[in-house]
Amino acid sequence: MTMHIGVLTAGGDSPGLNAVLRGIGKAAHEYFNMEMVGFRDGFRGLMENRTVPLDESALSGILTLGGTILGTSRDKPHRMLVGGKYMDMTDAIVDNYCKNHLDALICIGGGGTQKNAYRLMQKRLNIITLPKTIDNDVVMTDVTFGFDTALGIATEAIDRLHSTAHSHHRIILVETMGHRAGWLALGAGIAGGADVILIPEIPYSVEKIGKAILNRNRHGKRFSIVAVAEGSVSSEDAAALEKVERKKQTNRGKAENKRSGGDSGVSEVTHGGNTLQLAKELEKITMLESRVTILGYLQRGGTPSANDRILATRLGSACAAMIHKGVFGVMLAAHGDRAEPVALEQVVGKIKTVPLNHPWIECARRVGTNLGD
Ligand code: F6P
Repeated sequence: MTMHIGVLTAGGDSPGLNAVLRGIGKAAHEYFNMEMVGFRDGFRGLMENRTVPLDESALSGILTLGGTILGTSRDKPHRMLVGGKYMDMTDAIVDNYCKNHLDALICIGGGGTQKNAYRLMQKRLNIITLPKTIDNDVVMTDVTFGFDTALGIATEAIDRLHSTAHSHHRIILVETMGHRAGWLALGAGIAGGADVILIPEIPYSVEKIGKAILNRNRHGKRFSIVAVAEGSVSSEDAAALEKVERKKQTNRGKAENKRSGGDSGVSEVTHGGNTLQLAKELEKITMLESRVTILGYLQRGGTPSANDRILATRLGSACAAMIHKGVFGVMLAAHGDRAEPVALEQVVGKIKTVPLNHPWIECARRVGTNLGD
């Protein structure tokens, strides 16, 4: 019997999304006699039943394309803006799953998407997810697709910034994305030879960074590159944020939870503000001219790297096989060379930050990189 599967991409886009759609779809058609339909713009398209047929011709020629041919959004099934009001649209989503005679729904996304998919699983839908994000912060998987490409883009940016920092004897701060995890800044910082790397997991001291830069200067190195993850904070700000967070946790009533969209324990990441402030402070301490480059959405755009194409194809085709076997309620994770199912309840509500004893942190320290502490 032909199985009918639905697929959507949700959350921030990332390179490799089309490669994974192709991987699922080609395996589904060629090997498992499945028909696949896509929903536009994440959970919103599923709620509004906006579908795209994903037959062989639709999947052809998209392996190298950036973005997602389905579109995406950050809408959540249980709290969607409809007619100016936030509403729980889970029932409409369940109805559309049934209307399309789906045997399974694949949700491709990062941490938020895993949570939303889990909610639908609790409504007895056959759900399977795939881990995507340039932040690499999804737990229980070695890596997420999108990360390798973003890492390459950020590394190339640091390479290019070196020559101009060198020519002008400046400090250049380069801010990467990564949300509340430091994988991108740390990886690109190591690969690009940044002199200072700041990540959210290690609150920084401006004085110590200044000292490290002045020390370089004394040794004739008149420029410095500082790789900053967007979620990095100073030790003082980290202490203040923790205090606010604790207060929030204690006071968190239903109404407050509603206002924050149901995300608990989340401190908002300030995009750029901290890095600009840090540049000013470093200029004051070191008397060296400082400049800031915020890489932003550049890291999410364009062609996926070879590694991301392979990972997406591996996980995508394994996802079709998993559905064929009738395995649901799982995220398909990358474990070494294998694609293995992990129960969704083990994934939701957690983020994978950089462990302080991670080999990347150890090797950065060993080559003399200042980590702001
Ligand atoms: O999660 C991916 C990511 O690119 C983060 O690195 C960044 O903080 C966030 O998305 C930006 O979100 P938006 O696309 O909603 O501005």
